[in-house]
Amino acid sequence: PARILSGMQPTHDSLHLGNYLGAQVNWVRMQREFDAFFCVVDQHALTINPDPADLRNRTRVTAAQYLAGGVDPDVSTVFVQSHVPEHSQLAWVLNCITGYGEAARMTQFKDKAGKRGAEGTNVGLFTYPMLMAADILLYDTTAVPVGEDQRQHLELTRDLAQRFNTRYGDIFVVPDAHITGDTAKVMSLAEPTSKMSKSAANQNGNLMMLDEPKVNTKKVKSAVTDTDNEVRFDPETKPGIANLLRIHAALSGDSIDTLVRRYAGQNRYGALKTDVAELVVAVQAPFKTRVEELLADPAELDAILAKGAARAREVAAPTLERVYQAVGFLPTA
Ligand code: TYM
Repeated sequence: PARILSGMQPTHDSLHLGNYLGAQVNWVRMQREFDAFFCVVDQHALTINPDPADLRNRTRVTAAQYLAGGVDPDVSTVFVQSHVPEHSQLAWVLNCITGYGEAARMTQFKDKAGKRGAEGTNVGLFTYPMLMAADILLYDTTAVPVGEDQRQHLELTRDLAQRFNTRYGDIFVVPDAHITGDTAKVMSLAEPTSKMSKSAANQNGNLMMLDEPKVNTKKVKSAVTDTDNEVRFDPETKPGIANLLRIHAALSGDSIDTLVRRYAGQNRYGALKTDVAELVVAVQAPFKTRVEELLADPAELDAILAKGAARAREVAAPTLERVYQAVGFLPTA
């Protein structure tokens, strides 16, 4: 079967609802139809120079969240990026076919470097997209389920695959981004014109999967909306309400039209918020409990990751071999 691969950075103590709805729900939906690889991208997380103990913990916690959200380790390959050395090995080769200007145009890099300044920006942040391309291309991946914010990185991955193939022969499968409609960009509840983001200054806008349910309930109830008091779906003029309607639709399975009819009339924001809070908690509370159970026995989790790494290497090693051959590296005798 065709392959999918995706990953999340273990940069924080919890995933947020954007990670869950924008990416993970699709992973789970696709895992039985595709040969699925889900990677905890700890090498990408190193670009923010985390405390070593934090990185180690968060790598486990992120893997546990993959499983808690419904990734089945008997069906999918779940692994940690640094356990598979082929990722950094391929990344180097890709660095050497990437233009400096091409990398400098990546908007995520420009945003991050802009905030940190040249002195505070490490080169790992600059080469981040080529490591991500390596993650994908090593597995002959056909589709990459991600949120909207990864679209540009996927375009670069496709360009690099095509460029490599043109220069060295047919080595890589050119992957497609799999970015789905209404949940590809879940917005902050506090600033509904910005995406929900682990690095946002205002954390009140993030619904964290591992927070106490009452914290999330409170955040939903204090979500920023507008003053016209009428539930309509209009992302331009009513971004807060549009975001709540999208979250509701994704979690309840009801269409946005159905929801607009249900909450029509004045002063229904309160009812909408109460229902969204309930839907969020119904997913998030058992997710949190499951993560706690998985972390209670890290040996089992570590065994899943070891098995995943072995399986990942079975696919990644021959791809790297093809690449090394194609570029002219002298084989070991
Ligand atoms: P990361 O860790 O920032 O985010 C993980 C996934 O969550 C999606 N996402 C969102 N989706 C909808 N609404 C939001 N507000 C939102 N915020 C985040 C992201 O699009 C992503 O799918 N570079 C990647 C990690 C990565 C990767 C890969 C992904 C490394 N290698 C290979 C796919 C394939 C990242 O930083 O994701």
